[in-house]
Amino acid sequence: MIDRCNFRCPYCMPVSQYGEDYEFLRREHRLSSEDIVRVARIAVGLGVTKLRLTGGEPLLVKRLPELVAGLADIDGVEDLALTTNGMLLADAAPGLKAAGLHRLTLSLDSIDEDVFARLSGGRGDLARVLDGLQAAEAAGFDGIKINTVVQRGVNDAGVLGLLEHFRGSGHVVRMIEYMDVGNRNGWRRDEVVPSRELLERIAQRWPVSPVAENYPGEVARRYRYDDGAGEIGFISSVTMPFCGGCHRARLAADGTLYTCLFATQGTRLLEPIRQGATDAELESIVRRVWLARDDRYSERRAAERRAARPRKVEMYRVGG
Ligand code: 5AD
Ligand code: SF4
Repeated sequence: MIDRCNFRCPYCMPVSQYGEDYEFLRREHRLSSEDIVRVARIAVGLGVTKLRLTGGEPLLVKRLPELVAGLADIDGVEDLALTTNGMLLADAAPGLKAAGLHRLTLSLDSIDEDVFARLSGGRGDLARVLDGLQAAEAAGFDGIKINTVVQRGVNDAGVLGLLEHFRGSGHVVRMIEYMDVGNRNGWRRDEVVPSRELLERIAQRWPVSPVAENYPGEVARRYRYDDGAGEIGFISSVTMPFCGGCHRARLAADGTLYTCLFATQGTRLLEPIRQGATDAELESIVRRVWLARDDRYSERRAAERRAARPRKVEMYRVGG
């Protein structure tokens, strides 16, 4: 929905490449809110029940509550969620709740001020993000998911501290294996901390037990603290790829529809929309894309290791 972000997380939009003169999409090259609602309505007509707004940073979108309300109004939407870095959340939370947003996910890689500042490319302020989280609770959002991308030697030493902070809060921390999305973050396999290793470290401190899947194709493996302090999750797309159970499609801000986070190409919807395509025409494009999909990048990753990598879409364009 938007390719801009007010952070510069080194693994997503490194400052060196997304500096002052980087050209983000201009409005005329982006889907409007009305376009997004329209495509969403068509997708829901084809059986989609869950929608998530990501970015970039969705809270940078002007009149975001109107977009949220438009999506919440679609008949058949069972789950409407939004992923944010939290910097603008304190002011936005009540409006999002009132507009009908169901759930929030907060991206938060560290609970240490200095590490946090570094990980947001010098633009984030931890206290402000935590205020945003409080404001979201006050606005009535509960069971907020906290997404933590774990990188060895960067923030992995702080993971237990982060879990400690959120134990008993009702929020669910999900530790995400650092992935080779996009082309710009210089991903290295030795920076990935396998979930199994993290789980062992955690279990030494707090005993945990596995929890059954919420729904088939759930990407996070869930565990519960045995002492009742809540739940945690692991998203392990590097060590335990789940392509086979993935049923997500992603609509980028520029109107490209992708069927995989690691896609090298997508299908343009912006031009047909601008050229006056009918709902039936758009629906047939979306349907065709979905039926033809056979993405399983993560499952192929191991085999691909030796070959030159094709250029992938960047994460801030398609979201988490
Ligand atoms: N690996 C794992 N997660 C990532 N995110 C962005 N880039 C990566 C990556 N390379 C996460 C963000 C945010 C969500 C939108 O995606 O931290 O939580
Ligand atoms: Fe922005 Fe999220 Fe990317 Fe960080 S990970 S730069 S907060 S879009």
